[in-house]
Amino acid sequence: MDRLFELPLADCNLPLDSSHQELATEAMESGKAIFLPQLVFQFHDDEKKFLTPAWSNGAAKNISYDSATGRIQGMDGQSADKVALANMLQRYADFTTALLHNLFPRYKPALIRGRTSYRPVEIKGRVAKVTKDDTRLHPDQFPARPVQGKRIIRVFCNVNPHGKGRDWRIGEPFAGFAQKFFPRLKAPFPLSLDVQYLLRVTRKRRTLYDHYMLQLHDQSKMDDHYQKTAPQTAFSFPAQCTWLCFTDEVLHAVDAGQYLLEQTYLLPVGAMRDPEKSPLRVLERMANRPLL
Ligand code: SIN
Ligand code: FE
Repeated sequence: MDRLFELPLADCNLPLDSSHQELATEAMESGKAIFLPQLVFQFHDDEKKFLTPAWSNGAAKNISYDSATGRIQGMDGQSADKVALANMLQRYADFTTALLHNLFPRYKPALIRGRTSYRPVEIKGRVAKVTKDDTRLHPDQFPARPVQGKRIIRVFCNVNPHGKGRDWRIGEPFAGFAQKFFPRLKAPFPLSLDVQYLLRVTRKRRTLYDHYMLQLHDQSKMDDHYQKTAPQTAFSFPAQCTWLCFTDEVLHAVDAGQYLLEQTYLLPVGAMRDPEKSPLRVLERMANRPLL
């Protein structure tokens, strides 16, 4: 599949040589997913009890952990179990940081670590409102947490213990997608971005970039015709593998799978080898104005 860049790395701390680092950076910034079929996060024996959906409290889609505060959310269980799962997710966060530093030394000084999530619930058959439905192709964007132009990197690890793959579809390259949707996007109402911030609907002020990217996220999911006819390639990420991409750029959908670890990072556009490839610059060229 031409949207994947495969690397045989089996240990995130085993230093890659600089030519592989350059190739990985080039692939990543060209909208490919870096696929590491030999790399997997290991559960300790006493953590294998977390391999059941029963730990999810049912209200949230995922169990989420914030390594900056140590807080875990969306989990049912005794406090000792919460501490144990938080410790495991902290280890996953550190595993992904080591991996990113190894793959992309250029990004190291600028990377901002976000939330860690554990997804023990089967995707297939899960009901969600359309804009929250990840079985529909979309670029990522966070309604309450504006990125203000920064890139979103996500590192996924399929930790399924029963050999079950995570069935994804990857959509068309971002520029062609944005070209189709851009004419329908609406400018924000005057002051609405300030009001949302003042009312704490958003944690930071949405920039025009956030405003347009959120519409791209919602409009792509809501467009049945696009969902059916858009170019897309199915790929099942096998059990016990790791992959990552700029999920703000790589259109993706998940059809099935259970037990996933995911770590989010933000990256300022200026840290890229080629910032012109960012969705920010792509949209600014279409809008013919700065969006920050
Ligand atoms: C998503 O980010 O849209 C979901 C990916 C997944 O859970 O496999
Ligand atoms: Fe997504």
